[in-house]
Amino acid sequence: MSNWPYPFWIAHRGAGWLAPENTLAAFRAGRALGFAMAECDVTLSADDQPFLLHDALLSRTTDGRGAAAGLPWSALARLDAGSWHGPGFAGERLPKLDALAAYALATGLLINLELKPGPGEAARTGELIARRVDQLWPAPGVPPLLSSFESAALEAARDAAQRLPRALLLERFDDRDLERAQSLGCVAIVADHAALDAALIGEAHGAGLRVLAYTVNEAAEAARLRAWGIDGLITDAVDRFDPNALP
Ligand code: G3P
Ligand code: MG
Repeated sequence: MSNWPYPFWIAHRGAGWLAPENTLAAFRAGRALGFAMAECDVTLSADDQPFLLHDALLSRTTDGRGAAAGLPWSALARLDAGSWHGPGFAGERLPKLDALAAYALATGLLINLELKPGPGEAARTGELIARRVDQLWPAPGVPPLLSSFESAALEAARDAAQRLPRALLLERFDDRDLERAQSLGCVAIVADHAALDAALIGEAHGAGLRVLAYTVNEAAEAARLRAWGIDGLITDAVDRFDPNALP
C-alpha cells in the first residue's frame, strides 16, 4: 500500500457537534481537542467559488433560503452560518475553500475534503475544486485527501490534479467497488461503518486500498473496527475519543 500520511482520527464536518459544522469555529474546536485532521464538505457557488457546506439547501445551517448553488459567493458570504447552532456562534460565516486552506496551513491541520456536487455537476465540481486545492496547498506538504460518492467527480479531480490523493465514499460496499476505486486511482475507500466487516477490510487492503469509516461515535463500534484493521475513523464525538490514542 502507498505511504499514508494521515492520522487515525478525523473530526467530522470540522467538529460539527461542538460548533457549527463546516465553519472555521468547528475546525478550531476540533483542533483545540487535539484532532490533527478534519473532514468537511465542499461545493460550488453559482459563480464557481468553492466553499464549505453539507446540504444542497441553505436553510438547515444558515439564515438563507433555497439552493446554495443558485447564489453567487457575494450573497453566500453575508449569511449567518452560526446562529442555528447557538447564540454564541452568531455571525459565523460560510468559509470559502481559500479560508480553510489558510487556517489549515497555518495550524498544520490536515483535511479530508468531501466533494459535494449539485445534480449533474459532478465532473465540473471535481475538476474546479481539485484545481483550486492544487493551487492552495502547494507541494511539498501533505495535501488534502479528496473524497466523493461520485465516480465522475473523482475522475475529473484526477485529471485536473493527479498528485492529490483521492478516496471513494461508499454507503454500501461490494467487490465491484474495490475495482471501481482502483480504476479511479484512489488510495482509499471511506465507507459507512455499518457496511464494513473484517473480510471486506482485508480484501480492500489486499487490493492496495486503505479503509476509513464514517461516522463512528460509539466506543464499542470504534474498537470493533480497529480489531478488523480499519485505518482511520471519522467521528462527530470529538469530546468522547482521545485523538492521540487508538480505540
Ligand atoms: O465523508 C464522510 C461523511 O461525511 C459522508 O457523509 O453526509 O456526513 O457528508 P456526510
Ligand atoms: Mg461529508
